[in-house]
Amino acid sequence: MINVDFQYLGKDIDFASFEQKVMEIDNAINERTGAGADYLGWADYPLHYDKEEFARIAEDAKYVRENFDILVVCGIGGSYLGARAAIEALNGLFPDNKVQIIYLGQTVASNYLAQTLAYLKGKRFAVNVISKSGTTTETAVSFRLLRDMLVEQLGQEEASKAIFATTDANKGALLELCKKYGYKRYVLPSDIGGRYSVFTAVGLFPLAVAGIDIAAFMNGMLIGRERYGSHAMNDCYKYAVARHVLYKEYHYSVEMLVAYEPNFVQLGEWWKQLFGESEGKDGTGLLPDAATFTTDLHSLGQYIQEGSPVLFETVLCIEKPENDISIPHDNDNLDGLNYLEGKTLDFVQKKAMMGTLAAHSETGGVPNIVLHLDQLNPTTLGELMYFFMRACAMSAYLNGVNPFNQPGVEVYKKNMFHLLGKPGH
Ligand code: PA5
Repeated sequence: MINVDFQYLGKDIDFASFEQKVMEIDNAINERTGAGADYLGWADYPLHYDKEEFARIAEDAKYVRENFDILVVCGIGGSYLGARAAIEALNGLFPDNKVQIIYLGQTVASNYLAQTLAYLKGKRFAVNVISKSGTTTETAVSFRLLRDMLVEQLGQEEASKAIFATTDANKGALLELCKKYGYKRYVLPSDIGGRYSVFTAVGLFPLAVAGIDIAAFMNGMLIGRERYGSHAMNDCYKYAVARHVLYKEYHYSVEMLVAYEPNFVQLGEWWKQLFGESEGKDGTGLLPDAATFTTDLHSLGQYIQEGSPVLFETVLCIEKPENDISIPHDNDNLDGLNYLEGKTLDFVQKKAMMGTLAAHSETGGVPNIVLHLDQLNPTTLGELMYFFMRACAMSAYLNGVNPFNQPGVEVYKKNMFHLLGKPGH
């Protein structure tokens, strides 16, 4: 259960005055009316996802775990951020998963690609290429290089058994490649956009290969659907209303997602894309930013405390960490730390959080919203990601924009294609 805590907000929010508007939008989400309604497939996805495909994903992931040492997840934006966010949040940065998960297709940076390909050379690796359109340059270029390497190492037939594709069911360049070479394939439903797709095969296949319980993750989404699509001013909608009021009435322009855990850096990246692409249009929208405390208190902390009053914080608090460590005794005590002897790192972390909340909200006047999660596991993470997706759709509709398009992303592509001399551009 996600508990939204407004005690550090320092601003009045009249939630009751938003009740009717929120219920209208909730209805528009559930009834699939309103701007971008063709892309609302994610909202009820946990109620009627493809169980046959789900079973195939679990089976194929088992095959990858038994036959390969590395899975390369090849995608960009919504076609990779959710999987990476969930895998790193749950497995950490030094996981003991048998199969290493690495990421390609999210860049055309030559150093990164050259180094990654050199690392893969001669190793037993499989590829999960994820692209709805199949024509995204970063992903397509990386996939071509990966395919060539697999064919060179294994021959065409075995290479095809090492490639797993997630794409549109009916169209696109990647679908044509799947048909020609017989890759196993999963569907990115046409009514779900990339940044809302983590609960589809886009997220599920990499998560399953990473050894994560995908049934529990889906169950978290279902719990989220029940709690936050509930025809009431629930905590998710209160969060959406609070950030809307901070933006529109109090004129804050940046929301900083704060987590006290380096394993959540990619969750911040996923969250930034979700809110940035959904809300940032028509000359409007909060800028989503993310930070890791206490680390960034030693870099951004000064700005947050005393810089331009442009931002508010949304803080993720995990009540009970999966692992904890006690601080040992030291006879010399030259570092002066014996006063913490026997205390756990989480104890220290929570005191740092309490001190920071007071410093930022009371002394610095920075509004803080705290999202409490009892613990982090596949189910609670699934609930949290659904919470953010639902809150994001609500927020964008409150701002009067379509949450599901991203017309601005096309501008750089158009220019780049022209400069590259792509036929027809
Ligand atoms: O959220 C989005 O729509 C984008 O981030 C896309 O997912 C991203 O551009 C990748 O597109 P595609 O899956 O077509 O390669």
